[in-house]
Amino acid sequence: MRLVMIGAGGHGRAVLEVLRDAGWPDPVGVLDDDPACRGLPGVPHLGPLARAAALRAGGVEGAHVALGDNARRRRLGEELGRLGFTLPAFRHPSAVIARNAALGPGSVAMPRVVLGAMARVGAHVILNTGCIVEHDCVVEAGCHVAPGAVLGGGVALGAGAMVGILAGIRPGRRIGAGAVVGMGAAVLEDVPPAARVGGVPARPLGEG
Ligand SMILES: CC(C)(COP(=O)(O)OP(=O)(O)OC[C@H]1O[C@@H](n2cnc3c(N)ncnc32)[C@H](O)[C@@H]1OP(=O)(O)O)[C@@H](O)C(=O)NCCC(=O)NCCS
Repeated sequence: MRLVMIGAGGHGRAVLEVLRDAGWPDPVGVLDDDPACRGLPGVPHLGPLARAAALRAGGVEGAHVALGDNARRRRLGEELGRLGFTLPAFRHPSAVIARNAALGPGSVAMPRVVLGAMARVGAHVILNTGCIVEHDCVVEAGCHVAPGAVLGGGVALGAGAMVGILAGIRPGRRIGAGAVVGMGAAVLEDVPPAARVGGVPARPLGEG
């Protein structure tokens, strides 16, 4: 499949490594709105995102949005889907993904991720390096589980939620849509949509 990447920043470089290690052919290029963009290592910059439709018309079938911003990654991924691109899920060969777990289109499992039995991961999700998403978790579209974070069994992440580096979520808890769990938090209770929590045990941030 001929593939174009979106986003030539740090996450783009990390996804490119996953793609190469997993044996995918190199992308034909990368789109990035920054005019100073110099592409990804060994992958040329093909211009701004507005070029996507022309690439699709020119026969590029696949795309991947490698942007850290959850809302933007999901929105662009959905737009590319409407343009007719296929959005494959990428998994690093060192990721351990249960046979009956699901990883949605446009999502990526970085090195050493563990995705447990019956876990359901939606579209345009980042499962970052070494995170653990235990059995029966449900991770909705556009979420990011940062390096080393651990979701206990049956945790639910609402769309666009972010779980920071090395945070842990107690089994069965629900993190609302768009919520942010800070680095190193221990989440014991449900977190409401759009809330920001941190600490051990996790409490709302920015409330003194
Ligand atoms: C929670 C977070 C989003 C807050 O970032 P921010 O809005 O820039 O907030 P600030 O750094 O201005 O901090 C605001 C307050 O929250 C506190 N705080 C920030 N992050 C915290 C954390 N992880 N745990 C506990 N308290 C935290 C700060 O000490 C500060 O407290 P104060 O007002 O008493 O001084 C950020 O610190 C974080 O943890 N991000 C996750 C990063 C990550 O994992 N990225 C993945 C990259 S791959």
